[in-house]
Parts: sequence; structure tokens; C-alpha cells
Amino acid sequence: MSSGNADLDEEAWAEFDSEAYFLHYYEDPHPDDDLVVRMTCEAIKRIEADRPLDAIDVGTGPNLYPMFCALPRARSLTAFEYSRSNVAWLKAELEKTEVRPQWTHFWKVVRDAYGPGWELPDDPVAAVREKATISQGSIYDLPERQWDVATMFFCAEAVTNVQAEFDRACACFARAVRPGGTLIAAFLLKSEAYIVAGRQYPVMTLTVESLFNTFSAVATDIVTEKIGIVEHEVRSGYTGMVFLTAKAK
Ligand SMILES: C[S@@+](CC[C@H](N)C(=O)[O-])C[C@H]1O[C@@H](n2cnc3c(N)ncnc32)[C@H](O)[C@@H]1O
Repeated sequence: MSSGNADLDEEAWAEFDSEAYFLHYYEDPHPDDDLVVRMTCEAIKRIEADRPLDAIDVGTGPNLYPMFCALPRARSLTAFEYSRSNVAWLKAELEKTEVRPQWTHFWKVVRDAYGPGWELPDDPVAAVREKATISQGSIYDLPERQWDVATMFFCAEAVTNVQAEFDRACACFARAVRPGGTLIAAFLLKSEAYIVAGRQYPVMTLTVESLFNTFSAVATDIVTEKIGIVEHEVRSGYTGMVFLTAKAK
């Protein structure tokens, strides 16, 4: 029997404990998270476009920072998520009027990354609410060629640990943007699993080289950077990551 997430169906993902995940990974933001947020903002800032962007984040989970990163340049924000519990959590989180300190923290990182000259709101959650659509669906069923920029944080390697399925998931991610559109993603390195609320979720074990091969088929201008690689887990399943930017073919 495979230990892969290929075995986790929609019902299994519906039991994902969103609040436990949020508390474990984002209650106390790590400097690596801040770095990823900053690098994502810098990549979005660099996009050449004469109009506001349609942005999608794939496998958003219980995390608002992907939408914060795109917010300053976005006409629309789509959070595309498979797990029904995460979809419900995201919708409830966006309805809240009191902003969690973690969102205030990440929004400050975003504002600092964009720098002067941007008129950015004080309350990022209210601003995201205005532009966001939360869509439930699988990465394999993503609509094609609809967005200008797509982000994805720690998702495709959590969907499956079968290389061909991982490649297909990344191809679907890449094809969600128009040709030439911007792809920004972070992937766990040296990880085999992570634990949420006592349940183990397997992860595809990746290398920079394997990621390059996966994306070469569907993207150009691939740039990767390793972040925070350490010997021991910082959090469950996390010893470091690779940050990737590319342009969709
Ligand atoms: C490790 S979590 C990452 C969550 C979030 N992006 C973050 O940065 O913390 C993996 C995410 O992938 C989602 N996921 C699992 N299978 C999926 C699928 N087939 N399509 C899209 N997302 C999926 C899970 O529901 C979960 O939110």
C-alpha cells in the first residue's frame, strides 16, 4: 500500500484541522516565512503589466499571506483549495473584523517589501475580502489560462508523493496562468511528512534538480533559491524549502 497522499481523497482532506495547522505553522511567524513573503512580493512587484492583475493561490490552506502578497497589484484574488474544512476556515477568517496579530505581522512584511509609493490599506483582511473568491477544487481541475500570476506554497508535494502525479499537479498549476504569466512557489525540501492534530500527512521528497526538471516541461526563466536548510525540523515536516519563480510556457 502506498503511503502517499495519492491515497488521501476529498473526504480525508475535509477532516484537515485548519485551526491546528494555523496555530502550528503560523501562530509564531518564523523568519523563513517572512523571507518567503518578501521574496513573493518582490516577484509580484516586478511583473510588467499595464493593468491590475488577476492572481490565484493554489492550495491556500489556513493561510492569508499569499493573498496579502498579491493584494497591492490585484484586480482579483482567487484562493483555490481542495479541503472543505480549509475553505470554511478561509471564508470565516475573511469575515472577521478583528485582525489576528499574525496577519498584522505578515501585512507589515508585505508593506515593507513593496516600499514607498503604494497606497496600501491598514486592514489587509477587509481589503482581501473585497477582491477575494474562495474556490473549492482540486489542483488537477484548475481552470486553464485564466490568471496573470499564480502562487503555491507547500501544496503540490502534499497532494501526492508519486513523481508523475506531482509533475501533473505542477503542470496544472503552470497552465492556470496565461502564457508568459508569472509562477511563484515554495516547496518543502528534505521532508517526508508533517503532522497536523495527531494525523500524519506524507510529503513528496524533492530536490532542486527534480523541481527544475518538473518545471522545465511547462515553464521558462526558472529561478530557484534554497531557504533556511537545517539539519533538524524547525516545525513538523519543515527543515527548509526551495523558492521558485518562473514564466509559464
Ligand atoms: C501543507 S498544506 C499548505 C497550506 C498553505 N498553502 C500554507 O502555505 O501553509 C497543503 C495544502 O494542499 C491542499 N490540497 C491537498 N490536496 C489538494 C488538491 N488535490 N488540490 C489542491 N489543494 C490540495 C490541502 O488542503 C492543504 O491546504
